[in-house]
Amino acid sequence: MYVQAADEWRATTVQACGMWPFAAGTGSPMVGVPLGRNILSGATLCADPISWFQHANLISNPSCFFLSKPGLGKSTVVRRMALGLMGYGVMPLVLGDLKPDYVDLIKAADGQVIELGRGRGRLNILDPGEATSAASRLTGKAREEVLADARGRRHTMVCALITILRSSPPSDREEAILDRAVRLLDDHHEGVPILRDLIELIEAAPEDLRQVAMDREDLERYRDVTEDLLVTLKGLLGTGRVGEMFSAPTTTPMRRDCPVVFDVSSIDDSDLALQGAVLMACWSYGFGAVKVANALADAGLEPRRHYFVILDELWRALRAGQGMVDRVDGLTRLNRQRGVGTAMISHTMSDLQALPSEADRMKARGFVERSGMVICGGLPAAEMPMLTQVVPFSQAEQDMLIGWQDPPAWDSQAGRETAPPGRGNFLIKVGGRPGIPVHVALTNLERSLNDTNKLWHETSRISAALDHAAVPS
Ligand SMILES: Nc1ncnc2c1ncn2[C@@H]1O[C@H](COP(=O)(O)OP(=O)(O)O)[C@@H](O)[C@H]1O
Ligand SMILES: [Mg+2]
Repeated sequence: MYVQAADEWRATTVQACGMWPFAAGTGSPMVGVPLGRNILSGATLCADPISWFQHANLISNPSCFFLSKPGLGKSTVVRRMALGLMGYGVMPLVLGDLKPDYVDLIKAADGQVIELGRGRGRLNILDPGEATSAASRLTGKAREEVLADARGRRHTMVCALITILRSSPPSDREEAILDRAVRLLDDHHEGVPILRDLIELIEAAPEDLRQVAMDREDLERYRDVTEDLLVTLKGLLGTGRVGEMFSAPTTTPMRRDCPVVFDVSSIDDSDLALQGAVLMACWSYGFGAVKVANALADAGLEPRRHYFVILDELWRALRAGQGMVDRVDGLTRLNRQRGVGTAMISHTMSDLQALPSEADRMKARGFVERSGMVICGGLPAAEMPMLTQVVPFSQAEQDMLIGWQDPPAWDSQAGRETAPPGRGNFLIKVGGRPGIPVHVALTNLERSLNDTNKLWHETSRISAALDHAAVPS
């Protein structure tokens, strides 16, 4: 016997109460970007970190962390959020797109696409960006803060590059020397300095640096102390090395008044060190620009702009060397109250747990812990013990996540795999509350913008054309 399913309607509480006793409230918030339907109840779910923080007060800070196995739709749902938020006047900043996943979207929105890569575009890590010109429009504490922030970021970035090149962080003394050197460049250098200027400054052994180096008035000692540092810095410079992209003047300055994506997809996936370094450089530069925009808006000099900062493939930067977690933390920390939303995307907790030192692992877990919401797609069972340490998942929720990573079926008619069953399914967790399972269904417009397998389709189209040509007519 079949029982026909009842039709469902959505109505406001003012009208639906007349339907008593057939009305039921939905458990899903309706504030923010429409994501899809609740898998259990069918109710529409709207969610994005900025709306949930600012308008709905559902989360403690406007950030979200995405975890799932690759290919299940993380970048896609973040694109949906970015698209929806643009409708609310928020500007997405994609600080490093390795695939590229976001370039088409930002282009379609008339945003700025900045290409970085060997022989394509460069980002000078000693470039203070707009900070200098912003500082000249500001006064007092605001001015100090903008300058200090710019200095801190560039110092962090130089240290990060050294860390990547050496696979270990610079010593305390080296960090102190670099800090003072960046300060000296700011005060005395004409124009925007590049890495070569930093090297020349350290070689020139000015009194200030000798003091920080504690050379006890002995120039020979200074040379000994700075030798390793200079070797590493010079190692960054050569062509084909990691530093090549970062040691020449910036090719395209970033705009603050439109959506921006840094297209770094030309860097080969096997070049993990360079990928990590370039992501860090984009984050440093991008967060610096947000800081400047906020400072200018606070002073009433520019309109208040809201940004949605997207950090995809986070694990690549974290894995680029020991101590990188600290650098990432230093570069990406922002005043949470300013309407800047962030989305961090990684694969699994085991990626974060694979870091070499316990201190790094703890801090990497902290990224997840501190996020306002954690959004998980399909994950292997082995993840669960680690994940539940950070976010409490019920057994039923864990089973759901494990089910979503099942492999796709084989479509014998089409001769290829069907879509994975868990693609587009996500569980949204806010603190200890029950998770909200949602399926993100793409619109046609998104489908045309979302083709991350473009390269494959193009080759298959080409091979189809070749096959066609080979058929004798
Ligand atoms: N909700 C969805 N519905 C249909 N296809 C999707 C959906 N989400 C993702 N896809 C497709 O799945 C593929 C992988 O998605 P992507 O977002 O790049 O995954 P991830 O970032 O998790 O690796 C892409 O080709 C994308 O178009
Ligand atoms: Mg992705």
